[in-house]
Amino acid sequence: MSGTTHQEEEVQERPFDRRLLLRLLVYLRPYKARVGAALALILVSAISGQLGPRLTQIAVDEHLLKGDLEGLSWIILLFFGSLALQYLAQYGQTMVTELTGQFAMRDLRRQIFVHLQHLPMRYFDRTPVGRIMTRTTNDVEALNEFFTDGVVSVFLDLFTLVAILFFMAGMDWQLTLISCGVIPALCVLTFYTQDRAMRAYRELRFRLARLNAYLQENIAGMEVVQLFNRQERNQQDFDREHLPYRRAEEREIRYYAIFFPFSELIGTLGVGLVIWWGAGAVFDHRIELGVLVAFLQYVLRFFRPIMDINDRYTLLLGAMASSERIFTLLDTPTESQGGPPELDGVEKKGGVIEFEGVSFKYNPEAADYILKNVSFRLEAGHSLALVGATGSGKTTIVNLLCRFYDIQEGTVRVDGREVREWHVDDLRRRIGIVQQDVFLFSGDIQGNIRLGNRSISDQQVEQAARHVNAERFIRRLPQGFAQAVAERGSTLSSGERQLLSFARALAFDPQILVLDEATSNIDTETEQLIQDAIAKLMKGRTSIVIAHRLSTIRHADQIIVLHHGQVREQGRHEELIKLGGIYSRLYQLSYGMGEEGEG
Ligand SMILES: Nc1ncnc2c1ncn2[C@@H]1O[C@H](COP(=O)(O)OP(=O)(O)OP(=O)(O)O)[C@@H](O)[C@H]1O
Ligand SMILES: [Mg+2]
Repeated sequence: MSGTTHQEEEVQERPFDRRLLLRLLVYLRPYKARVGAALALILVSAISGQLGPRLTQIAVDEHLLKGDLEGLSWIILLFFGSLALQYLAQYGQTMVTELTGQFAMRDLRRQIFVHLQHLPMRYFDRTPVGRIMTRTTNDVEALNEFFTDGVVSVFLDLFTLVAILFFMAGMDWQLTLISCGVIPALCVLTFYTQDRAMRAYRELRFRLARLNAYLQENIAGMEVVQLFNRQERNQQDFDREHLPYRRAEEREIRYYAIFFPFSELIGTLGVGLVIWWGAGAVFDHRIELGVLVAFLQYVLRFFRPIMDINDRYTLLLGAMASSERIFTLLDTPTESQGGPPELDGVEKKGGVIEFEGVSFKYNPEAADYILKNVSFRLEAGHSLALVGATGSGKTTIVNLLCRFYDIQEGTVRVDGREVREWHVDDLRRRIGIVQQDVFLFSGDIQGNIRLGNRSISDQQVEQAARHVNAERFIRRLPQGFAQAVAERGSTLSSGERQLLSFARALAFDPQILVLDEATSNIDTETEQLIQDAIAKLMKGRTSIVIAHRLSTIRHADQIIVLHHGQVREQGRHEELIKLGGIYSRLYQLSYGMGEEGEG
């Protein structure tokens, strides 16, 4: 189990790419004013933040040593003023940048989601859900962090460094040079350790994700685990998954254990240098005492910006990788929308379906076709039953009718027009499908019937439910139509889910109705309710029924027997029985079983 739950191993970093960055900046364009305000606030906060030591110098040299206490209180006032200014600027800047980041990310998330909804089914066949989720959550979050934390801090750090150098150079240039002596050592240390610590941290996160995936799968499948006594094996698997996680953690800790003491050491070294040269200079009256005091404070203030800049660079590389993945998704071509949309108010009628020499495979590169030269014509209001072994291509025919996939050969027409020529919305509006696996959304019963379509009134929802015999079980629920549906409808029986999906199909009043496997796995009482509902649903509509139970199929106007994607028999019930082929064999089998079941 462990080896198969491979979390995708994605590249976490990409080299700096100007084009990606420019494309990212486009998302900030609508918020230009805010970005400008944030930059201005950063500047204010960097400068006011570095005023303190310089004020100390003035306080010491101009007032303390000269005994000018009145002037000193002014300096103190100024000192508090600069602190207040710094905090205000920081507050404003944090609010502005975080909000701007959130706005930009909302735009991006929205764009991704809109794009996703228009991607062809083929994309979802090939792309694991987990990966798509990562795009819309983790990757967007990485960009958010880059914008609000990364970009802003880089400016803050740069401004801070410049402000420190400016204030220092304004007091004494020789001491400034000496203070800067520790910078190379500091850079070497941070680049070496931070980089490695960051990598270890990445690894850690990746391992943790795998561990979580492993845990999740095995907790969800606890029944199977206990049934098959897999506990011990699983424990070994768990240990195996856990080991690399612990190793990565150890590595991260080790780098930090090196980094902090060493940076302290370098800091002390810097202070030492300043005292060594500065004290001598004070004695020789080359500088004043206040200057030395101020430098002792400034020399320690280099550290954060330099450490930060390195961190931000790693953030930038991460953002490059994330943005590349997001843009790849956004650049995936969407499904073609087909012909021009119909004008509203065009009366729905017809519902003729034609397949002419249709050959199709899901994977264009595959050698074998899934459907081979399938042809049939279904008149408006008539019914077609598709019969065939599992995997013979029944659901595929429905997928093609809805144009979820484009075919390689032949034509599929609805009302005489090729499905490719229809605007997808118009085409799909005409077709109601009761799917093989009923998908229920979280929400209530009512919402699941109406699917958010406001033009369907409460009465219509209830009417549809009543018509397909779903009302009885819905009324039995404590909250009736307002009853919440658990995730994927897991608290409803499969028969109830089926009835619900009938109500859903009916509420939309489609011209063409498709029932996929609607009658399997259901008790006889529900079966009768469903049979009755199906009969009502099919009335007056073109319908395609896919069922293994021949009782539903008998009365169809046309029956097609599919075998490995080919039409093997085609005709009415009596004709096919007379033919004595696959259908008649199937019929005999199920008829015999049906009698036994009822007897
Ligand atoms: N999205 C897909 N991508 C690739 N292959 C697919 C896809 N969906 C179905 N297939 C393959 O196409 C073939 C026909 O599948 P289809 O779903 O049409 O069968 P079916 O007749 O509906 O079977 P069942 O009675 O079990 O529902 C199968 O071999 C299946 O593996
Ligand atoms: Mg199927």
